[in-house]
Amino acid sequence: MTPAAPSPGGRARKTIVLSLGGSVLIPSLESNALGAYAAVLAELAGRARVYVVVGGGGEARRYIGVARTLGIDEATLDELGILVTRLNARLLIAALGDAAYPRVPETYAAAKECGVAGRIVVMGGVAPGQTTDAVAAVLAEEVGADLLINATSVPGIFTADPKRDPSATRYETMTPAELLALVSRERMGAGSNTVIDLVAAKIVERCGIPMVVLDGREPGGIRAAVFDGAFEGTIVAPEKCRPLPL
Ligand code: UTP
Repeated sequence: MTPAAPSPGGRARKTIVLSLGGSVLIPSLESNALGAYAAVLAELAGRARVYVVVGGGGEARRYIGVARTLGIDEATLDELGILVTRLNARLLIAALGDAAYPRVPETYAAAKECGVAGRIVVMGGVAPGQTTDAVAAVLAEEVGADLLINATSVPGIFTADPKRDPSATRYETMTPAELLALVSRERMGAGSNTVIDLVAAKIVERCGIPMVVLDGREPGGIRAAVFDGAFEGTIVAPEKCRPLPL
């Protein structure tokens, strides 16, 4: 693991990896949160080294849906999804301007190299058979992140899908092993509503990096979480670990 670079104030600079759902960053191309997120991420970059992994959201699902009707295999559909995540990453880089590294890395090694430049690194998907949650977890492990934040369209991890089951309750905290047990019971596949994918849960369990799952539909929520420790969501970490405020 690379030692944390000292900040101007002398404190070691922490590293955050943010998994930013396409559905919260770009609910639709016309109505998006690119500018609002760029402002929040630039603030975070003043406090920590920031890596962002952008999801595909509704646009990826639309492309995959059309291609599926053409009889294309699932792995090739995943490749299409990855292309859309990278397009979304390009849009976020455009919104960040000079605060971001100007290119979308396509491998973890390239992302680490881009991080050396000190700007915000933005990437998308990497390989078929997973989602960008898994990419963010692996990237967090590779760059030795202090914290993984998963910003999604539900306020944390619930006993059931809260959009379908009104009796679902949120886990305030859970251990990585409990997350893995929960996710392993879910059926993974097209249309799956699991908030975290299985690969991501396995990586979180093995690396021990704390993960916070929170509602990303309001970009300012991430600022409040990181700076003030104020958020509604779930902390996945070994017992007694309180990763926020950073
Ligand atoms: P996402 O990570 O965006 O999945 O990847 P998602 O569940 O739609 O997340 P939101 O809505 O953005 O929060 C979109 C699709 O791209 C492919 C998968 O098909 C995934 O469903 N993908 C993504 C991969 O195959 N590999 C990757 O590394 C990333």
